Amino acid sequence: MHCSAGPTAMTEAASPAARHPTSALRVDVFPDAVAASRDVAAGLAREVAGATAAHPLVLGLATGATPQGVYAELVRCHREQGLSFRHVITVNLDEYWPLAAGDPRAFRHAMDEALFRHVDLSPDRILIPDGTVPAGELARHAEAYEAAIAAAGGVGHQLLGIGANGHLAFNEPGSPHDGRTGLSTLHQATLADAPDGVPQSGITMGLGTILEARTITLLAFGEHKAEAVAAALKGSVSEDVPATALRGHASVRVVLDEGAAGELGLGGGCREVPDEIGGSEGKEARRLHVKRA
Ligand code: GLP
Repeated sequence: MHCSAGPTAMTEAASPAARHPTSALRVDVFPDAVAASRDVAAGLAREVAGATAAHPLVLGLATGATPQGVYAELVRCHREQGLSFRHVITVNLDEYWPLAAGDPRAFRHAMDEALFRHVDLSPDRILIPDGTVPAGELARHAEAYEAAIAAAGGVGHQLLGIGANGHLAFNEPGSPHDGRTGLSTLHQATLADAPDGVPQSGITMGLGTILEARTITLLAFGEHKAEAVAAALKGSVSEDVPATALRGHASVRVVLDEGAAGELGLGGGCREVPDEIGGSEGKEARRLHVKRA
């Protein structure tokens, strides 16, 4: 992978909303998670390389297993090709609450291990909800988080994973699509997929906050995500499936492996796509365009 080469045909379509205000939500299906992660990382590396002091990149980051391959590629680009993060500001989606300082289950710890401590990212440019804030300060902390994102200029590119129940960050089914940063009670399905003993609540950017990102990339890998992906892309837009909120955004790319695409009804190839999804063969990925809400 070239860490800071010019744009390729694969990523040209992920243009800013301003240039394609009516463009469809785009779905790229890769043969496997490794190929998908490399492609996403290559695009992000170009954005990181293009950031300047005057125009920093505000990069929205997700935790969980899904984006780990992307972070590993970015670290490799830093180590092997000198990709610098000095003009990057990172904004994380969520954090478990309540946590003791230094709790190894913290998303902050996971991000340190996966990315932050391996690259030249200034600690004062890392925004992540604080799982140690006392209950009485939660509302103030949530407001301050929104204000910090706004002061950074808003998120330019947000990476997302998806929960098996269709959640985004810690916005569980029933969350309003215009919600702001705040405390969320985690559903049993979410806790079942989480490490043992995590808190049953989390501080999360709201769906409304997430949708303010100028461009969004949702990653999903594996058959266990196929149902949630199909509900997000093909089901009715509803608070019951938080990820359907993405259908109202003008610049979303969904990056899947074959397993996560398994319930989209694609059969063996794009000739068999159902009416609501149109498609064409990409160079490395099958590319589809999903009608937006
Ligand atoms: C957690 C996180 C989400 C993440 C999801 C999926 O609930 N709060 O942001 O998308 O898990 O995680 P994984 O990528 O491990 O499947």
